[in-house]
Amino acid sequence: MGMAMAAVMGARLELREVAVDYGGVPAVAGVTLAIEPGRTLALVGPSGSGKSSVAQCPNRLIDLVAGARVRGTVRVDGRDVRDPGVDVIELRRQVGMLFQRPVVFPTTIARNLDLPLREHRLGDAATRRARAEQALRAVGLWEEVASRLERPAAALSGGQQQRLCLARALLLEPAVLLLDEPCSSLDPLAAAVVEEALQQLRGKVTMLLVTHSLAQAGRLADDVALLWPTERGGRLVELQPAAEFLARPRTPLAKAFVAGAAAG
Ligand SMILES: Nc1ncnc2c1ncn2[C@@H]1O[C@H](COP(=O)(O)OP(=O)(O)OP(=O)(O)O)[C@@H](O)[C@H]1O
Ligand SMILES: [Mg+2]
Repeated sequence: MGMAMAAVMGARLELREVAVDYGGVPAVAGVTLAIEPGRTLALVGPSGSGKSSVAQCPNRLIDLVAGARVRGTVRVDGRDVRDPGVDVIELRRQVGMLFQRPVVFPTTIARNLDLPLREHRLGDAATRRARAEQALRAVGLWEEVASRLERPAAALSGGQQQRLCLARALLLEPAVLLLDEPCSSLDPLAAAVVEEALQQLRGKVTMLLVTHSLAQAGRLADDVALLWPTERGGRLVELQPAAEFLARPRTPLAKAFVAGAAAG
């Protein structure tokens, strides 16, 4: 999987008292956590606890949501993402994102990968093709699509589309990846293939992984953070190394959450 990004170790991602509300209705109530470079943190919690809201802050995607207001500070590699000097396009190159459903561009597989490289002026045509191949190999998709790069991306299976989206994020060599339930729209086999691609990225990129699967958190994450909904928005109730969180949750809410997940 020798991506050029192998040398990139990821950036530190830090959230300090991050609070989100929508039209004055609180969604997240002051979340503070840090992910060290190259580490993976799983964000878990009941539906509506604010996981997606938190995950949309580091790349400022939340700026596009009407009525959303963010307080507190998010730092990527020490830099406040809302600093007036921050170029949002460059920020979103540095902080890639994968959603629950793959969002492929309505064009060919090749152009899905070429467009972002061109937008960021990364290399001539031959270089861009080489980088696209590298990214497809890194997500285990090259063998499957090499002969049909000029076919529509939308014709790929859901799992292939999700890996294409991951490849598209990777070829910009992000330091941070935000993953909002990246496997939950996929069948178990496709989910396992995407998970394997993410497994390969551990240590190379900093990942914030929103997941409903504690089993997946156990396989992919170094640490687990549990959010819980309250009247004042989702609150961070526990943050532990993944193995500890799963085996010895400390707080009553975490104990209940882990026990509930174990009960299915
Ligand atoms: N665009 C929006 N406008 C208004 N309220 C929103 C918006 N997005 C989220 N919310 C509200 O904010 C709270 C947190 O939502 P969020 O989507 O962040 O939770 P979540 O933990 O990701 O939930 P799920 O597990 O269901 O995806 C919820 O009460 C939700 O209804
Ligand atoms: Mg969500």
